[in-house]
Amino acid sequence: MRPPLRSYLRDETQAAHAQLDQLVGDLDSVEDYRGYVMGLYAHRVAVEAWLDAALWPDIYGSWRPKGLAGLLEADLADLGDAPPAAAPFDMSKDIATLSGVSYVVVGSALGARLIFRKALALGFDSSRGARHLASQQDQLQDWRRLLALMECIDSEEFDRPRAAEAANAVFNQALLAMSANRVD
Ligand code: HEM
Repeated sequence: MRPPLRSYLRDETQAAHAQLDQLVGDLDSVEDYRGYVMGLYAHRVAVEAWLDAALWPDIYGSWRPKGLAGLLEADLADLGDAPPAAAPFDMSKDIATLSGVSYVVVGSALGARLIFRKALALGFDSSRGARHLASQQDQLQDWRRLLALMECIDSEEFDRPRAAEAANAVFNQALLAMSANRVD
């Protein structure tokens, strides 16, 4: 029996995720955190614009990944930084690609628990500097819904390699956005 789509995508993107963890590092200074928020903004604003412009297949019903760009912009203002420029993100909008992109965007809320603790230790919280991380703490229900949707769409015809390719493209876009926005 083949593994669930989520496990397949997690395995296929493990290397890219590890690269991102390494690039982001310990986040133990305000400068590192500012760079993180700028990079995450440049990543999310472009990917969210792409998701907003997609025509979602019926199977997704009214479910959509929640956007973070607005909260990230408010966090940047708290930190005294202007929103950085973001390169547009573009790919075909087929169901496998949409599913791979959604997996990365929604799954990132799992790691956001750890990052929220680091932000709190630096003195930021849900009302200053870490609004986007606070909002991600409530996204477990969204993640469970996506896992259920992924089980439904994962028929024999579903193009798993294409979904993995899309997920890795998002990780690579995030890596580029993060490297371009480090604060030294
Ligand atoms: C743009 C940035 C990031 C994206 C897009 C992202 C994406 C993801 C995704 C898709 C998952 C779900 C994997 C799965 O279980 O299927 C995940 C989990 C996780 N991420 Fe990230 N991640 C990001 C940054 C980070 C960073 C910087 C860290 C570490 C400091 C991190 C730590 C984790 C951890 C610990 C988990 C597993 C949490 C758990 O299983 O409860 N992530 N992330």
